[in-house]
Amino acid sequence: MNTLILSSSLAGNSRSYLLCKAVEQELIAKGDNITFVDARTIPLKPVHKGLTSEMEHLAKQVEAADNIIIGMGVHCYSVNDALKIILDACFGKATGKFFGILCAAGGERSYLSTMHLTQICMNEWRMMQLPRIVYATGKDFTEDTISSSEVLERIKLFSEEFHTIGNKLV
Ligand SMILES: Cc1cc2nc3c(=O)[nH]c(=O)nc-3n(C[C@H](O)[C@H](O)[C@H](O)COP(=O)(O)O)c2cc1C
Repeated sequence: MNTLILSSSLAGNSRSYLLCKAVEQELIAKGDNITFVDARTIPLKPVHKGLTSEMEHLAKQVEAADNIIIGMGVHCYSVNDALKIILDACFGKATGKFFGILCAAGGERSYLSTMHLTQICMNEWRMMQLPRIVYATGKDFTEDTISSSEVLERIKLFSEEFHTIGNKLV
């Protein structure tokens, strides 16, 4: 299956990026075909200011993917700004696709923030979500390494389930 992994954080030391990379490794090992997009490499403009050519390319990658994994950092109990721009501008052809969420947050109490992304994807494009989220906070990392065995286990479970269900839906 062709999976698009979209790491949406623009932070130089993004932790959700590390979650995305860990899941990418798991899925590649299972034989899936991964397109990895790091939003830090994409010049972004708000939707009414016109899409950059890189944003147009991302919209095509969204259309071409069988399914999508989205990495997000929590901003004010919701999705981060870059992700909202990408959803508004580049997800028009995501209708009906299976998707999963990998989330980094500052604290443990923001876990329901991923529900905003669920609402957007399900209400706007009738996308279907894997009912398992990888949620990690600062204490789960040592510098640029995921150090929590619990989070690493969850990454394995997420990847296994995404791979199994994703392939059935292709
Ligand atoms: C503008 C802003 C708002 C934030 N709001 C929250 C929040 O509501 N809840 C929370 O747990 N962490 C919050 N954080 C912390 C981030 O979620 C945390 O730094 C996380 O690692 C971001 O993901 P990233 O490292 O992939 O960018 C906020 C950070 C920023 C910059």
